Amino acid sequence: MAASLVAESISKAFVTGKIRAEVLSDLSLQILPAELSLVSGPSGCGKSTLLAILSGLLRPDSGRVFALGEELARLSPDQRERFRLQHTGFVFQGFNLFPALSALEQVMLPLGYLGFGNAAARRRAGSVLEEVGLAARMHLRPAELSGGEKQRVAIARALAKEPQLLFADEPTSALDAANGQIVIDTLHRIAHSHRATVLCVSHDPRLISHADRVLAMEDGKILSDRRVRTAASEEVSS
Ligand SMILES: Nc1ncnc2c1ncn2[C@@H]1O[C@H](COP(=O)(O)OP(=O)(O)OP(=O)(O)O)[C@@H](O)[C@H]1O
Ligand SMILES: [Mg+2]
Repeated sequence: MAASLVAESISKAFVTGKIRAEVLSDLSLQILPAELSLVSGPSGCGKSTLLAILSGLLRPDSGRVFALGEELARLSPDQRERFRLQHTGFVFQGFNLFPALSALEQVMLPLGYLGFGNAAARRRAGSVLEEVGLAARMHLRPAELSGGEKQRVAIARALAKEPQLLFADEPTSALDAANGQIVIDTLHRIAHSHRATVLCVSHDPRLISHADRVLAMEDGKILSDRRVRTAASEEVSS
């Protein structure tokens, strides 16, 4: 299957004052659609930086990034923004929900930006919330939802526009083990049922058994790359 995200020899350093810290060094990877890929590694190893580069939020110092076959650096800022709006969804550690809006309204909001009318947005939002198991709670506000439910609202919001690329940065680290498991299983199911590319980064080793593929990152590089569910030891070409 053709890779939907490709990084070719990307490097990135941050300079603060006189100190230059290399965060990613000559890193290459290919991520496939219809599976949940997990990049795991210790805090500070560059996972969020990698996600920002693969999603086009940040430019690497060198190397190339392709998303859905497009080389991101070749797009104009407007085209890149359009690409992100149309094709990418994001889920973050802190949920980023609006306190005053119900679950249904949170999910409807981005659909409005995409030109959906109110009735169509309501229908789509309702069906996505149902898909993440929140049909009965869609009229509640964040304060009335558990952490795991809030994160599932955030997943529904990212999913509503049916993005081909879904990025999740530490989506479970604010959750207890049980809720973390529900959230990662939801992401896993979405990868398979929507044939979406789901790329999750986390330092939580408990997520490993819930992914299809685990890329272990350390010192700005991918150290190992393996399949989890199908054949635990089967190496993936990197
Ligand atoms: N904008 C920035 N300016 C300077 N340094 C940065 C910047 N962003 C990240 N860094 C540094 O780059 C390194 C990697 O950061 P990054 O956020 O990618 O790590 P991470 O693997 O996501 O960590 P965590 O698991 O704690 O989220 C860190 O040492 C961090 O301090
Ligand atoms: Mg991070």
